[in-house]
Amino acid sequence: NNMHVAEKKLFPRSIQEMSMDGDEPPPEYLVKGNTFGSKDSPTLIQIPIIDVSLLSTENELQKLRSALSSAGCFQAIGHGMLTSYLDKVREVAKQFFALPVEEKQKYARAVNESEGYGNDRVVSEKQVLDWSYRLTLRVFPKEKRRLSLWPENPSDFSETLEEFSTKVKSMMDYLLRSMARSLNLEEGSFLDQFGKQSLLQARINYYPPCSRPDLVLGVKPHTDRSGITALLQDKEVEGLQILIDDKWINVPTIPNALVVNLGDQMQIMSNGIFKSPMHRVVTNTEKLRMSIAMFNEPEPENEVGPVEELINETCPRLYRNVTNYGDINYRCYQEGKIALETVKVA
Ligand code: SIN
Ligand code: FE2
Repeated sequence: NNMHVAEKKLFPRSIQEMSMDGDEPPPEYLVKGNTFGSKDSPTLIQIPIIDVSLLSTENELQKLRSALSSAGCFQAIGHGMLTSYLDKVREVAKQFFALPVEEKQKYARAVNESEGYGNDRVVSEKQVLDWSYRLTLRVFPKEKRRLSLWPENPSDFSETLEEFSTKVKSMMDYLLRSMARSLNLEEGSFLDQFGKQSLLQARINYYPPCSRPDLVLGVKPHTDRSGITALLQDKEVEGLQILIDDKWINVPTIPNALVVNLGDQMQIMSNGIFKSPMHRVVTNTEKLRMSIAMFNEPEPENEVGPVEELINETCPRLYRNVTNYGDINYRCYQEGKIALETVKVA
């Protein structure tokens, strides 16, 4: 049995194996001082629903502005992607994760890279690990794709991701124009700051069940560094929670909706009017959960800052202009601070 213990040390079990055997999660996954339940106390706060096809109307624009200045997120419906289409996208992602480990490892993420297949990226020794596997791929600009990391199995993976990304990007562009209109700004006030070569990154998340969902997290609390994020949730299994008024609110699954949330760079561009919400993912004992997150951010060289028209005597400038925001966020995340603090005007 000693042998067994030694072996365990040398070859740590994957969370997939631990999940299948119902093992207790090891220490590096335990989020200290916290317990979570997917069944937190019921609350009256709900995630707003926005019909994208109605954003030409003043009424829906008002709803958009109010959603983004409070929750910083909403469920987008009426975007033209049918449930049957979204199911196809979910299915392709599921097929990749169902492959044997050796097959998935062909696309493994290198230690200091963000693209590829693997677990939570380890950036510090004290880090608590996320109970998840991910496949991260840059989709746009097209020239920046690392095609060696794009799965060949299932055979329609690349085609499906490309098509889905194109649809999501065009929805995002329309949303960014609508957001500007909702604040009586020129339509391009936000979108133009992203630039024609803005980045679109896809991340497919896979969360195995966990015997102790009260002690671990699928994703620790964070804000997205992106400009805007669209998330295709699991069709049935909940897990995403958004912090609204200091309460963790479950984001319900709606089969034909994409969850849209803003990232830090949009909070900066809107001079703090729109919020980049803190969010996290909880696990459960029974069911695996999958999601597909699409992150759109400005061209890295672009200087991004509060839109001039949003700065005046009553609303002073809250943030400095930033370039290469990713670096700022990465540095601060390790220190456990929100990156936005570092771009506040003193
Ligand atoms: C994330 O915020 O990175 C993951 C969202 C999700 O899986 O619901
Ligand atoms: Fe996120």
